[in-house]
Amino acid sequence: MKSSEIRQQFLDFFESKQHKIVPSAPIVNKDDPTLMFINAGMNQFKDYFLGNKTPDNPRISDTQKCLRVSGKQNDLEEVGIDSYHHTMFEMLGNWSFGDYFKKEAIAWAWELLIDVFKIDKANVYVTVFEGDKSDGLEADMEAVEFWKEWIEEDKILYFDRKDNFWEMGETGPCGPCTEIHVDIRSEAEKAKVPGKDLVNMDHPQVIEIWNLVFIEFNRKADGSLENLPKKNIDTGMGFERLCMVLQGKTSNYDTDVFIPFIKFLEKESGKKYTFDYAHTAKSDIAMRVVADHLRAVAFAITDGQLPSNNGAGYVIRRILRRAVRYYYSFLEVRNPLLHKMLPLLASEFELVFPELKNQLEMVTKVIHGEEQAFLNTLEKGINRFNAIDTSSGAISGKDAFELFDTFGFPIDLTRLMASENGVKVDDKGFDTALAEQQNRGRADAQKSVGDWTELTADPSVEFVGFDHLSVDDAAVVKYRTVKIKKKDQFQIVLNKTPFYAESGGQHGDTGLMFFGEEKVPVLDTQKENDL
Ligand code: GLY
Repeated sequence: MKSSEIRQQFLDFFESKQHKIVPSAPIVNKDDPTLMFINAGMNQFKDYFLGNKTPDNPRISDTQKCLRVSGKQNDLEEVGIDSYHHTMFEMLGNWSFGDYFKKEAIAWAWELLIDVFKIDKANVYVTVFEGDKSDGLEADMEAVEFWKEWIEEDKILYFDRKDNFWEMGETGPCGPCTEIHVDIRSEAEKAKVPGKDLVNMDHPQVIEIWNLVFIEFNRKADGSLENLPKKNIDTGMGFERLCMVLQGKTSNYDTDVFIPFIKFLEKESGKKYTFDYAHTAKSDIAMRVVADHLRAVAFAITDGQLPSNNGAGYVIRRILRRAVRYYYSFLEVRNPLLHKMLPLLASEFELVFPELKNQLEMVTKVIHGEEQAFLNTLEKGINRFNAIDTSSGAISGKDAFELFDTFGFPIDLTRLMASENGVKVDDKGFDTALAEQQNRGRADAQKSVGDWTELTADPSVEFVGFDHLSVDDAAVVKYRTVKIKKKDQFQIVLNKTPFYAESGGQHGDTGLMFFGEEKVPVLDTQKENDL
């Protein structure tokens, strides 16, 4: 079954159970200060659980774009190394807002997996919440009773709050959950070690596919739980993992969700994907990282989060730079690559998330610009990295800061490269160097920057640097004076410019401006250390 059919069958199944099918919310979360990105299907329904809003229909189902790269749910370090973690993934979900509860949620999950998708029930295990003294909660014996109708008792396993009490963040709706795990190992392996011994043991082929959460509580900022006005259901099934199971594969990356991108990368790099997960060839890891990160970056930008130097924008920039470093170092691709994969991505998702196709030109420009800017400094940064004295077993905070400040290496990229060489990074030293720079920046800014003088009524600015290295006529939109070491310099904003100006570790473009006969140098402010 093709992945598009699997997705559709899930939605059709819940539509047949009177669920309203709704679109995915944008992956970028602008409404909730406790969460940067959507990390679960239930996020867009938070107010329904809390009783602040009432849905038109008490049963809803959808496929939701999710990103788990920050906060409580963060899978970034695993991505590419293993065969089943992702930054962006799709979560198939069904919800009940004060309507059906444990009995139906369990019965329907079983019906869909076993009767509709025909998963062999011999390979299925379920887990339930064993209770937690600190929260004053008993084991979920109600869920156990409902499960006993479908599955042998010895395949119902008990786990603690880490695995079986689901929370969207530090605060918010939460509750005990029951998870469905599938053992997709060979019969020979199953004969050696029973699947039940491998559940929740990070085995790549004994994996959780579906989590049914019984949302009954709100976790408050003081850590206490309060009862919600109604009992609710919130389920989340990993679409890519489900495709792996139903397509008879042992890696998400071997399904038709990812294979078109792996093939694209093989062609671009001239390297072969070996499908050898035990050997973990670096070029295989790189292809998985790039195929994964492309989706995260493209959909985040599509949904309104441009890469930047802080907050959610910096998370996207870090993911993008991680991908660039992987294709540069391990696929030996030296030119921007991610943006070339966007037409394929847009067409693969055209029917389910058409928003990428609708904004393809903008997303392509942004990603291309970001890739080029980082590639401009990457090689020098790698050379600098290789020259660092690591005889102490660690990269000093000062060196890590230089990589960050001059070459645009996010600290987690430096950490990743350090770990590849078996050394650590002095994170504290890095934080100190960063704080010092920020303090200097603040002090400088207070001392020396004047107010903007606006010269035109129209403040719009056109960047033409992707296509042109010069512009014949441009007008000054606004300018301000910056006093550095008692010398006046000017920051000028033009209505049309080929100069890519970037802060936070990138080298800005340099060149010349002509005002009549007068030639004015445009400085790389990072390099000159002028501003
Ligand atoms: N909200 C259920 C899950 O993310 O697993």
